Amino acid sequence: MTLQALVIGIGSGDPDHLTREAVEALNRVEVFLVADKGAAKHDLVKLREDLCRALITHDHYRFVEVPDPERGPDRERDATEYQGGVAAWHEARARRYAEIIAAEVDDAGTIGFLVWGDPAFYDSTIRIVKSIRELGVDLDLTVIPGISSIQLLAARHQIVLNRVGQPIHVTTGRRLLDEYSAALGDVVVMLDGELACSGLVEQFDDLMIYWGAQLGLDDEVLISGRLGEVIEKIRVSRAAVRESRGWVMDTYLLRQYRE
Ligand SMILES: C[S@@+](CC[C@H](N)C(=O)[O-])C[C@H]1O[C@@H](n2cnc3c(N)ncnc32)[C@H](O)[C@@H]1O
Repeated sequence: MTLQALVIGIGSGDPDHLTREAVEALNRVEVFLVADKGAAKHDLVKLREDLCRALITHDHYRFVEVPDPERGPDRERDATEYQGGVAAWHEARARRYAEIIAAEVDDAGTIGFLVWGDPAFYDSTIRIVKSIRELGVDLDLTVIPGISSIQLLAARHQIVLNRVGQPIHVTTGRRLLDEYSAALGDVVVMLDGELACSGLVEQFDDLMIYWGAQLGLDDEVLISGRLGEVIEKIRVSRAAVRESRGWVMDTYLLRQYRE
């Protein structure tokens, strides 16, 4: 028999942000496999559990935490080492999931992976489920989209992410300084723990930033303005959220200022 694997985009913790399709999928899952990323991320596991309590209409489901394998020191790696490190980590993670599935789930059961935001953006769950299948687990994969933090960022700031007919470049804080040029058009930055955009202030004094942290959560913060004028305010807000909650997730759009 074939195992059903549902990868479900759950937005950022607000039950109103799940589609009906996602809610219906949540209700089909028997076992949710959740990566255990240590103490700092327990809050996120709790948010996911709260969502399930709010949206699942029965009680025959359970959570199984899968301890995450150690991931090496990304910051000290160059791009090739970084890719290699991530690939090895994915493989270790897939093996761990396959072991847990064999131990915990019936062949014909339905497992669920709750993906923060949308599975299409900077999330390895789809790749990992495919790797689990390559390890010999007989499974059918279904992906249900969710509202990404990028969409929430645009909605909260009441903006369109691109200029009319122009491209949007989506990248990471790690890549921003090497990649940035005015020719890219509007740039969305994710996974930036250091506010890499502060390194652009001197060279690009016409940049605007639309920044949001904890989008969709109670402690959501939004700041926008000329990058050079608001970067310190963003830094202070970011540190305050981290201090009070123990973690912070933020994303932003960089756009050249035009009268
Ligand atoms: C591993 S990626 C996952 C992105 C997710 N799949 C999505 O669609 O939003 C994590 C990054 O997404 C962004 N992010 C996720 N949730 C966020 C939130 N609630 N508010 C602001 N940024 C968020 C941050 O840039 C964070 O570093």
